[in-house]
Amino acid sequence: MNQTKEISKEQVLKQSIEWWNPGKTKQWQADGVDLVIGKREGYYFYDMKGKKLMDVHLNGGTYNLGHRNPEIISTLKQALEDFDIGNHHFPSINRAQLAKVLAECTPDSLHYSILSCGGSEAIDVALKCSRYATKRKKFVSIINGYHGHTGLAVSLGNERYSKPFLSEGSPSEFIHVPFNDLQAMEAALRNEDVACVIIETIPATYGFPLPEPGYLAGVKKLCEKYGTLYVADEVQTGLMRTGKLWGIEHYGVEPDILVTSKGFSGGIYPIAATIVSKKAGQWMNEDGMAHISTFGGSELGCLVAMKVLEISQREEVVQNVNFVSRYLGYELEKIKQRYPEFFVGIRQLGVVMGLEFDHPEGAKHVMSSLYENGVWAIYSMLDNRVLQFKPGILCDKNYCDELLERCELGIKQAARKLGY
Ligand SMILES: Cc1ncc(COP(=O)(O)O)c(C=O)c1O
Repeated sequence: MNQTKEISKEQVLKQSIEWWNPGKTKQWQADGVDLVIGKREGYYFYDMKGKKLMDVHLNGGTYNLGHRNPEIISTLKQALEDFDIGNHHFPSINRAQLAKVLAECTPDSLHYSILSCGGSEAIDVALKCSRYATKRKKFVSIINGYHGHTGLAVSLGNERYSKPFLSEGSPSEFIHVPFNDLQAMEAALRNEDVACVIIETIPATYGFPLPEPGYLAGVKKLCEKYGTLYVADEVQTGLMRTGKLWGIEHYGVEPDILVTSKGFSGGIYPIAATIVSKKAGQWMNEDGMAHISTFGGSELGCLVAMKVLEISQREEVVQNVNFVSRYLGYELEKIKQRYPEFFVGIRQLGVVMGLEFDHPEGAKHVMSSLYENGVWAIYSMLDNRVLQFKPGILCDKNYCDELLERCELGIKQAARKLGY
């Protein structure tokens, strides 16, 4: 990478503190993660000074198909021959085609696609659609849920992110209920004044607690009973990461709205989509100009996203994700049995995994020791006991074996350090 020759890592850190984000830059340094990402390829990336890391955070699934996936790069290069961002005012070949493909590969309940630049924007669109469709203002989300940082999305989540910006939202408008609690959900919906319930199918930032059998289907039933829409946030759980294209398919729920982003970009071109039922998208028949996003649904991004959907649904890819999930699940269980006091749980659906440790900040320590051992995975921000462990759907057995070896070392070192 030429740039690394022109600028030193120390200079990048200095400039980041001066001009980019002082708090974030300093925090990672304080946490012992002295990282400035340089070269990246497949499921590996390198620090500017050369340290090689296995990426099992994947930026929440953004690099589901690997860093700089050659097929995605070639799709974008090809797209640049004929297209640019496009003009959001007018119909276009690529937007129309992507919307059709999305309608075909999402649950039957979904029809129109509204295209955005990123996950939070797409979540805000989902919320707006639900308000228009129901003429109700309230939203229900789960305690410790996370749906992004834009105006509406940030108020759905934990105060950790909304309070600093005075964006908590009125508690009567943004209702938070415990996950896996149908009684609390019914109490919140009973007054028939809630526009939508929004749930990330397996909440990542909360450490991937799995929905209890019947929970999500029960929520959908309650939504139908009380005239509320169901929004599935599939920003992290979509795109074959659970072994099905959408995580929600495992739970027998046909949502009214589904949101995809992160991996939808192929890690190359930012794009997100809010796929809505005819009812939730009715506003587009009445006032199609009511929502606008200049860069949302860039024609370049549309072509990239279609390639992502095509790759993710290939038979060999489905077989691979099933193999990787089974293999890692089985081998991690064996590691867990070797450190039973410390490594106490594995939450898993496909390659969406949370590794649970006994210590209240166990995953923070495991993150550090994995980093020392060449593995990059992040603890769950809202449950520091759980490490988000998210390999890519194209990785092979050799990658898994290297990962398992390094993970065992890291877990062993963290356990020792914490006195287990
Ligand atoms: C589940 C979920 N929803 C929404 C978002 C917001 O996406 P973005 O950061 O692209 O705005 C994220 C981002 O991490 C996410 O994990």
